[in-house]
Amino acid sequence: MARTQDAGDAYFARTFDWMADRYVEQTRAVSWGGYDRWLDHAADLAAQDRPEALVDLGSGPGLLLAKLRERLGAVRLVAVDLSGAVLDALSDAAVERHCASVAEFAADYPERFDAATATFVLRDVEDPVGFLRDAARLLRRGGRLVILETHRPVGPGGIGFDLYFHHWLPWWGRMRLARDWPEGWGPNPYAWLSASQRRWRHGADVPAWLERAGFERVAEHRRPDDVVMLLTAVKA
Ligand SMILES: C[S@@+](CC[C@H](N)C(=O)[O-])C[C@H]1O[C@@H](n2cnc3c(N)ncnc32)[C@H](O)[C@@H]1O
Repeated sequence: MARTQDAGDAYFARTFDWMADRYVEQTRAVSWGGYDRWLDHAADLAAQDRPEALVDLGSGPGLLLAKLRERLGAVRLVAVDLSGAVLDALSDAAVERHCASVAEFAADYPERFDAATATFVLRDVEDPVGFLRDAARLLRRGGRLVILETHRPVGPGGIGFDLYFHHWLPWWGRMRLARDWPEGWGPNPYAWLSASQRRWRHGADVPAWLERAGFERVAEHRRPDDVVMLLTAVKA
């Protein structure tokens, strides 16, 4: 399948090819251990209706899919990602892998899935409503979508969050986590993460985007003072 090569897709493909081997370990470190807890919560919600076929959109190296396999057993699990290297890093040989953009994949597999997940992906896509429409297209009617994202905490926790995300993390990225990032490739992944979180803040538009994209029964599963947001919605 041919891959779209717009500027955003090309940046993600190259970045996640580059960091495929270190992504899980570094995400555990930068989340202070929260990464596994958050993915466990997302996996519990995605597994609730016992889907027979589930697609993980922007799967990365597949930690969420491993957690889903533990919960769901021998169902059809599919990984879609722009980066071939993260798909190669998946440990579960039974997961179907598609190196493609979500838009390309959705055009080829309409209404094939009972559930879809998108964890730490939506914040960075150029057209989030288009991305959610593609997610809706992949689902059968009544299928469940689970979205997990970063979230600037409401209340005093927001100040510490800003210090961490916009001061400490870019420094840590530059000095250690991505110190071998090739010159001339643009912002390193942690500088990118900081800039994209600055734009995203509370992700306040997500419920409205979901409704515009054809979802209903939008529910939020984390508290407003949390550092992540976790939503479910059902294809209308
Ligand atoms: C921050 S990582 C998140 C990985 C994983 N979902 C997780 O929870 O750790 C974002 C992933 O989404 C992929 N990605 C970004 N935009 C995409 C798109 N439009 N279509 C497919 N994959 C995409 C990137 O290549 C990258 O592997």
